[in-house]
Amino acid sequence: MEAGELLERFEAFVASEGKIESDSWMPDAYRKTLVRQISQHAHSEIIGMQPEGNWLTRAPSLRRKAILLAKVQDEAGHGLYLYAAAETLGTSRDEMVDALLDGTAKYSSIFNYPTPTWADIGAIGWLVDGAAIMNQVPLCRCSYGPYARAMKRVCKEESFHQRQGFDILVTLCRGSDAQRAMAQDALDRWWWPSLMMFGPHDGDSPHSATSMRWRIKRFSNDELRQRFVDVTVPQAHFLGLRIPDDELVYDDTTGHWKFGEPDWDEFQRVLAGDGPCNAERIERRTRAHVDGAWVREAAEAYAAKHVAAPAA
Ligand code: 3HC
Repeated sequence: MEAGELLERFEAFVASEGKIESDSWMPDAYRKTLVRQISQHAHSEIIGMQPEGNWLTRAPSLRRKAILLAKVQDEAGHGLYLYAAAETLGTSRDEMVDALLDGTAKYSSIFNYPTPTWADIGAIGWLVDGAAIMNQVPLCRCSYGPYARAMKRVCKEESFHQRQGFDILVTLCRGSDAQRAMAQDALDRWWWPSLMMFGPHDGDSPHSATSMRWRIKRFSNDELRQRFVDVTVPQAHFLGLRIPDDELVYDDTTGHWKFGEPDWDEFQRVLAGDGPCNAERIERRTRAHVDGAWVREAAEAYAAKHVAAPAA
């Protein structure tokens, strides 16, 4: 069948909500953008362990420590799940990790911000995982089967992540003045970078139109950002915290919260590697990769000796 016909059939199949599997015919550009998005999603999960891991030894109670430990372990699992989904498209774990470590692949800019107080762990769960849920639930209906199925498992755990973060902030906001101030300080620092998690405005997104036509993205960056703001502002008011946006106002006619403009120069600076923690995050991930080489070599040596090659 001619390539043109194959593409037409692919577009019609995806438009009819068909699921593409790893052995399906797909345009190179579909494969390429999925490897790009899924591998960067996986990188985000793995790098995202660092800001939270920073508090594992300093959590205020054994219960909070156990919850944070479980969450960080979940994130590692999400990363491995997503690397495995990306590998079904023909890329390899080594290629993806190399692209992360040499800076050619991105990860979510949000993880390049520091976590100086315990309230940051609450803000990450509440805002970052909250934004992740807003973005990931539609991905459960992504046209690429392995990604959609990975997302179903991930989203179940994200709900726990978001709730435990919000619970931390409820405790702080019902505590002393100093604890309430710590919670407000964290919201002040995490609010705008959380809005940036949804990507640039639709008009500035080079991928959105194609990703939406191919049912990878189900909603646009701005649509999901607006949904996140509409859900999160009332939660901040419940906590007694102020959203750091002087332009925030409820629009009765639309039922949405109008909000100000994220600092897109800051966004681009952090994407370019000039965020508060970019160097530290990659340095630590590189060190973990080098220190873990012996484990990979041992596993490969064992597999070579004891694991039969898959039947041709
Ligand atoms: N941080 C870093 N890069 C970003 C970004 C962000 N917040 N938002 C957009 N970008 C990048 C895109 O990757 C793209 O660059 P590239 O061509 O080099 O890949 C460029 O900016 C243009 O953005 P687009 O909107 O056109 O790109 P996409 O269509 O891919 O949309 C996205 C960006 C919404 C992040 C989309 O890739 C997506 O939905 N990814 C899956 C979800 C994800 O990766 N979330 C990251 C956080 S994971 C997380 O928080 C887990 C939780 O458990 C903690």
